[in-house]
Amino acid sequence: MSTLDGLWTVERVGGALPPMAGVRKRIRGAAGATVAGPVRMAFDVRGMELRYRAPFVGLVDVLEPAGEDWEGRSTLFGREFGRFRLRRISVTQELQSQLVKHIDEALAMEQNVLRMLDSMISTTDDPEIKQQLREHKLETEKQADRMQRRLEAHGASPSMVREGVGIAQALMKSVLDVARTEKAGRNARDGYATEAMEIAAYQLLERIAERAGDEATAEAARESRAEEEAMARRIEANWDRFAELSLQEAGVAV
Ligand SMILES: [Fe+2]
Repeated sequence: MSTLDGLWTVERVGGALPPMAGVRKRIRGAAGATVAGPVRMAFDVRGMELRYRAPFVGLVDVLEPAGEDWEGRSTLFGREFGRFRLRRISVTQELQSQLVKHIDEALAMEQNVLRMLDSMISTTDDPEIKQQLREHKLETEKQADRMQRRLEAHGASPSMVREGVGIAQALMKSVLDVARTEKAGRNARDGYATEAMEIAAYQLLERIAERAGDEATAEAARESRAEEEAMARRIEANWDRFAELSLQEAGVAV
């Protein structure tokens, strides 16, 4: 009999269950969860039953071994309403799919940054800062290409699996939306926060790629991160200047 521990895909076999594409069960020891996109239903494992916790009390999956897989019956207060099959997802498969997800998110992030840089370039008067932003825009285009190529190397196309762009979008929103009287300081602040976010994303991507044995993606993440770090240092070297420009824009002579 196979153990229940691990990660499983759920396939609908019959009954009143919804389509199960993308539905997974994660089981570890005496507990687990059925996960469908943002919905997570936690359960306790009791023998061969998965007993759902509140707010799904009364819902129980009853399992039976079927070779390497498991067959399951979904029951509500003891009444069967659907049948499904659990197929094991290997760690390697899951690692690859997580890697692709991180690459895709990095690509989405760079595409957002390109829009942000356009906005910053158009709201910056200082010629030297404008030039730095333009140079970083060229770097950012290359970074997006790098991620696009890594995605293609995995046979994936952009946006298949996007979930985690929320942070990037929230950050960009403050940059793109606001009609501002004072730009230099805010551009610098938002730019610096964005670089920090990109550095963090590439640190994670590099490590996940290494664990997945994808050295080319790890190297791409390192290259892009080095550029983001250089950009962050350029901003750091100019805080006095940004403060001065901010005050000038606000009409305060210093
Ligand atoms: Fe970037």
